[in-house]
Amino acid sequence: MDAKLGMRLKKVEELVAFVRRSSVVKIGDAAFTTMLNLLSDMFFSMNLAHYDSNFSREFKDHLRITLETAGSRNIADYFPIFRFVDVQGLRRRGRFHLSRLICIFEEIIQRRIESKETKNDFLDALINLSQETHSTLTINGIAHLFLDLFITGTDTVSTMVEWAMTELLRNPDKLKKAQGELRAFAGNKLIIEESDISKLPYIQSVVKETLRLHPPSPFMVPHKAEAEFEIDMEEKYLFWIPKDAQILVNVWAIGRDPKVWEDPDLFIPERFLKNEFDLNGQDFRFFPFGSGRRSCPGMVLGDKMVHLLLTSLLLTFDWKLENGIKPQDIDMNDKFGMSMEKAIPLRAIPIPIKS
Ligand code: HEM
Repeated sequence: MDAKLGMRLKKVEELVAFVRRSSVVKIGDAAFTTMLNLLSDMFFSMNLAHYDSNFSREFKDHLRITLETAGSRNIADYFPIFRFVDVQGLRRRGRFHLSRLICIFEEIIQRRIESKETKNDFLDALINLSQETHSTLTINGIAHLFLDLFITGTDTVSTMVEWAMTELLRNPDKLKKAQGELRAFAGNKLIIEESDISKLPYIQSVVKETLRLHPPSPFMVPHKAEAEFEIDMEEKYLFWIPKDAQILVNVWAIGRDPKVWEDPDLFIPERFLKNEFDLNGQDFRFFPFGSGRRSCPGMVLGDKMVHLLLTSLLLTFDWKLENGIKPQDIDMNDKFGMSMEKAIPLRAIPIPIKS
């Protein structure tokens, strides 16, 4: 992953350049485009999206609708009797947008095969693998693998950056503290490097507090019980879980449980300064990347990118809300697609402070 360090910094610089030429920024969209380009550059050596192009917007729409239909609370998840009936028309709608995305990936793969170019990237490795004798990996299979990685790797990070910026703009004292730490540390530096993140405890706490309040995957991915078992609920009652039951773990509710967290609905990064919690999923009060063998394989990349994007936005710019909106009036409603995103996207005005 470290071979890609320069690439990650370049993507952060592209984001800063975009913000610099913007009078108002939709934070979630900008972070989304950055992640889209980072992943496409990592996997097939090209930027998939331009910050202003229509293609970028279309791709985002297909991905978003696929995400929403895949992650929507489908009635059949709760009443399996409806499994064979597409009650909400979700599958039909999802299939259309899914096929558009698969076409985009298949075209990229085909073009690489036909050009006979070698770029020594992930796509080359997968194509070579698919061309080995007896290989079961097809072009369609590679396209689906890319789709999985783009679904899990883009929206999660951009949603986190949008929520972190929203919470900071809503809490000016915390914003001041975060920028104070960052700017005192950075001095003349224009960008925070990955190795600097560990030296920014308050920024790290801002990210953890955002993960607690707004986990992008509030139900994680569905798990399945391999065997029947019972859970002892504080010795008061027993939960019986039958074999093969689908289990949705509500990390969102755990993050707001008043038995675990003082003032659970308030944004208080200071609660994480004691460093009691890490992201490794060993403590069932806080495990935003899941736990155990099914936990998020993109945790290290995701965590790094949230810090890099957030620090670049906070270091280089001051921020103002649009149309004189007051911090306390920012809309905090969320909506559930695949990620728990802001119902009304955050738009903010950047004021460059470093050139
Ligand atoms: C802040 C960013 C992210 C958060 C909070 C996050 C969180 C999660 C969570 C909670 C799960 C489910 C774990 C479980 O059910 O036990 C998951 C799964 C997954 N994540 Fe992430 N993730 C993030 C970023 C990424 C990135 C950047 C990638 C890859 C590029 C990625 C790839 C995946 C994949 C492939 C899975 C599915 C694993 C499976 O099906 O077993 N994630 N993530």
